[in-house]
Amino acid sequence: MLLLSYSALFSLALSIVQHLAMSEANKAKADAQRAEGNRHFMEERFDEAIRRYNEAMALDPDNAKLYTNRSLCYIKLKQWDEAASDARTAIRLDKSSVKAHYYLGQGLIALGNDEEAGDVLKLATDLAVQQRLDYGDEIWSLCRKVKQRVWDKKESQRILQEISLSEYLRKLVLKDKEEQLASNPRNAAKITEQFEDKLSQVTDLFKQIDERRRRRMVPDYLVGKISCDLLVDPVITPSGITYERYCIEEHLRANGGYDPVTRAKLKESQLVPNLALKDATEDFLRLNPWAYDW
Ligand SMILES: *[C@@H]1O[C@H](CO)[C@@H](O)[C@H](O)[C@H]1NC(C)=O
Repeated sequence: MLLLSYSALFSLALSIVQHLAMSEANKAKADAQRAEGNRHFMEERFDEAIRRYNEAMALDPDNAKLYTNRSLCYIKLKQWDEAASDARTAIRLDKSSVKAHYYLGQGLIALGNDEEAGDVLKLATDLAVQQRLDYGDEIWSLCRKVKQRVWDKKESQRILQEISLSEYLRKLVLKDKEEQLASNPRNAAKITEQFEDKLSQVTDLFKQIDERRRRRMVPDYLVGKISCDLLVDPVITPSGITYERYCIEEHLRANGGYDPVTRAKLKESQLVPNLALKDATEDFLRLNPWAYDW
């Protein structure tokens, strides 16, 4: 058993009280610095704002808001590494911060990391919905843009592969032709004709692939407002907004009865399957099977 003398207990209690009083005082000072920082920010003196946030951080190092505040300054200054790093710290201190995720997403985009940015922005969208924060379409549309860009990049890699495949096939056909001509020179005319045909078939084949590829864009109206994904089981609300069913149901359970886009009252029983859009999605997928792994 641990025995403490009264005087030891007393001094322990005293030091705890002092510590608390101190951190209260520090917090108050930090808040004052932060307010100053915000004021400088409003007047677009970002370097000065950063200095104030630094002061505040020294006094109150675990305050997530300070890091989101400073991250935004770095975004304004286009110092993207710092912006992303502050946003990450803010997320570590407060996992539910929409702003921190949004700023991290912006930083990652600027740093060329679209893939992670897409995931982070998706999270920001979900968090905003859960917390009933209204960012309009701001975060969602950035999320969509990035997802499309990630897709486009994969697409262009695929195109390069297809081009090299087409060259390769062409070479094989020509090589085969040379061999046949060498072993059968008397049929040269016929062989040449046959191989011309084969080459034009190869060309046609790749032209068709090109044609289909040109349509590789997922239209916005087929993408869920919350899910950022192709709508699989779309339902429409009385306000006329379409959501992916599981997303809107989750939202209603977690946050209560309102439409996250229009904020009108909404009950689960009012959700109606959007059959027209479901058909449209299915048609789209039939013509664009690539979209399954979009
Ligand atoms: C700083 O954070 C607070 C709280 O999140 C916010 O109200 C304020 O607008 C922010 N200011 C800046 C410059 O980010």
